Amino acid sequence: MSDPYFQQLFAERIGGAQYGKGTAIYKFEKIKRAKRKALAEHPERALLDFGIGENDGVADQRVLSKMAEEIGKPENRGYADNGIAEFKEAVARFMLRKYGVELNAETEINHCIGSKTALAMLPATLINPGDITLMTVPGYPVAGTHTAYYGGIVYKLPLLAENSFLPDLDSLPDEVREQAKLLVLCYPNSPTGATATREFYQRVVQFAQDNKIVVVQDAAHALLSFDRQPNSFLSVPGAREVGVEIHSMSKGFDMIGWRIGWVCGHERLVSAFADVKDNCDSGQFIAIQKAAAAALDDESIPHKIHAKYKRRLEKLVAMLQRCGFQCSMPGGTYFLYTPSPTGLAGGPTFDSGTAASQYLITEQSICTVPWDDAGAYLRFSVTYEAADEAAEDALMAETESRLKQIKPLF
Ligand SMILES: Cc1ncc(COP(=O)(O)O)c(C=O)c1O
Repeated sequence: MSDPYFQQLFAERIGGAQYGKGTAIYKFEKIKRAKRKALAEHPERALLDFGIGENDGVADQRVLSKMAEEIGKPENRGYADNGIAEFKEAVARFMLRKYGVELNAETEINHCIGSKTALAMLPATLINPGDITLMTVPGYPVAGTHTAYYGGIVYKLPLLAENSFLPDLDSLPDEVREQAKLLVLCYPNSPTGATATREFYQRVVQFAQDNKIVVVQDAAHALLSFDRQPNSFLSVPGAREVGVEIHSMSKGFDMIGWRIGWVCGHERLVSAFADVKDNCDSGQFIAIQKAAAAALDDESIPHKIHAKYKRRLEKLVAMLQRCGFQCSMPGGTYFLYTPSPTGLAGGPTFDSGTAASQYLITEQSICTVPWDDAGAYLRFSVTYEAADEAAEDALMAETESRLKQIKPLF
């Protein structure tokens, strides 16, 4: 295909004149291709898919009913702009009940069309060319991508097992501290599954104050916390003076596709976010905001989802341990992040998580997501489709049988 006349016009941030010509294959495309190959070459072998990072459940019936009730009401039809009071008030009740965090619904909370969009927009509020955003790796990269779009620089903080997958803030060189404006955290952490202690959050507040850095804590997985009660960064004294927390209805309420979450914390940061957002979108459909508000008031919904993913993770960990994996129950999220096998007894060796993951998909139809940013790891997600507990057990048994046959080494 010959280049269109505008080929030279693409912005450098997406590759400039080379946009669309790259041959690099990105991680998720590589996984997709390997899955296609496994299905084509072994149509008789079921694909055991631990690669999906989305809830398998449909939103609760009560939320669906509320949505059905609200969808056609004329008063819900228009632009929602920065959100309706009913949703913000439900968020304020939820934050107080769940985390003991008291927020002013009017000034300290703003909805977003999913936390991904909030992470994409927040760098616009702070990052000028040359400013640094501190990001943990492995992690959810959206705030870093947008930092780079604004001419900022991403400084990576590795999450290592020896530090309980918490970043070593003392490791930062002075010049990085001076240029840094934003520290993006995510706890419960995706993909490592670590949760944050109160002491860590206290240290973060001190670090932010000492270095005049704004903290954005991504709490998308907050309700899926297993080793401690779900906690909020904002419950630590001083936290609301230094940052905001982003919450999502996606994971904890089975509302992935509904696209709703919120940013809360320091009033000035929330209003800066709302100003940017107002220039990007016109708010989530009011019927969805009302259904989400109803969900937030119903404690039983996240409780059920929490119990399901905890049960599935416990089964997964026990099964993988029997196959030689050195894993333990994650603190939170629906992910298990575990050191990748280095090879197979009498078989190939793997120099990375990517190599192990490609082998497992193509040769055994077991799909995981590799992470090689800070050591070679595989991420198993328990969001697979299984109609009931018997189906979960059958999936575990089949995975165990395939893994035991190939004898992974660590
Ligand atoms: C760590 C993390 N943050 C944010 C998101 C985005 O969630 P949503 O936009 O659905 O609220 C995800 C989704 O996978 C995630 O894993």
